[in-house]
Amino acid sequence: MRHSRRLLVIGGSGELGRQVVLAAHGWDLHATHLTRRPHTPGATWHRLDVTDRQAVHKLVMSLRPDAIVHTAVSDRSPGDLRAAIVDGGRHVAQAAADVGARCIALSTDLVFDGRRGNYTEEDPPNPIMPYGRAKADMEHALLAMGTDLAVVRTSLILTLEPMGRHVAWIVDALRPAKAGLRPAKAGLRPAQAGLRGGERRGLFTDELRCPIWSDELAAALLELATLDYRGLLHVAGPEVTHRYALGLALADYFDLDPTLIKPALSAESGLNRPLDCTLNCSRAYGLLKTSIHGVNARLGKK
Ligand SMILES: NC(=O)c1ccc[n+]([C@@H]2O[C@H](COP(=O)([O-])OP(=O)(O)OC[C@H]3O[C@@H](n4cnc5c(N)ncnc54)[C@H](OP(=O)(O)O)[C@@H]3O)[C@@H](O)[C@H]2O)c1
Repeated sequence: MRHSRRLLVIGGSGELGRQVVLAAHGWDLHATHLTRRPHTPGATWHRLDVTDRQAVHKLVMSLRPDAIVHTAVSDRSPGDLRAAIVDGGRHVAQAAADVGARCIALSTDLVFDGRRGNYTEEDPPNPIMPYGRAKADMEHALLAMGTDLAVVRTSLILTLEPMGRHVAWIVDALRPAKAGLRPAKAGLRPAQAGLRGGERRGLFTDELRCPIWSDELAAALLELATLDYRGLLHVAGPEVTHRYALGLALADYFDLDPTLIKPALSAESGLNRPLDCTLNCSRAYGLLKTSIHGVNARLGKK
């Protein structure tokens, strides 16, 4: 007989999934990975590809979880991204419904075109990138099922330890590549020190986002798994910022050289990325007890 409620974290090997696994105290915990078998303790691990409908069905039927948190498949996942996001999402949500499990699925602020910002759950998505389009289609398919399900849209996910990918990408720009040595101090020319010809990395100032710390998002997802809220929910940080400001804050926090980064404009990059994707999270802040802090709560002065 089971003594505690069972949770299945799909994508437990990812940046966010790992935090959900670490925070899921009191659950009988199962988690999945695809290519990277984690050693995170406290969970029973299963390999799962969500594009394989039979495999998803089989695993969920065998575990019969009370709740599923579906964090898998980000914009850097391998293979056919659209199939993994849309079909994979459907497979997970259908399997959850088949065993009466509550399902929490992750989406993104990039379902919006970024022309206005401060988007609420009522604003219609209008994605301009393939990843955002796939997530918007996944949302639509899942919400149409009318099952016990919430779709959480979030923004840039940040993790300091172990360093998550957004933090690592910026910190990498703030460091001369060789052994943390400044070229001048090491008696090296910038190219010898691994700097790309002494080039400073440009970080966008016109892409506005509401970054969220991964452990707080994980706690919010676990809380949401115990509530009966259904539908879309925006869960992101309370501070509006851009990557250049994040870069300056990270330089200060890690004592790195802020002159190695420079402000740049997404609008002039030719990339056609959504600019202001800030999320209005007042519904989540009213619903959840989990505290969500801004970037500066952790990156402010040590
Ligand atoms: N990171 C952000 O800033 C951000 C922003 C907005 C929304 N989100 C959303 O938040 C969620 C978590 O993002 P993240 O950055 O933590 O992702 P991540 O670190 O890239 O992790 C992705 C996870 O999905 C698994 N995965 C990939 N393809 C799969 C497939 N076909 N079947 C099963 N598992 C698969 C990976 O497994 P392996 O590693 O074992 O291969 C990994 O566990 C995603 O849904 C993402 O779209 C992220």
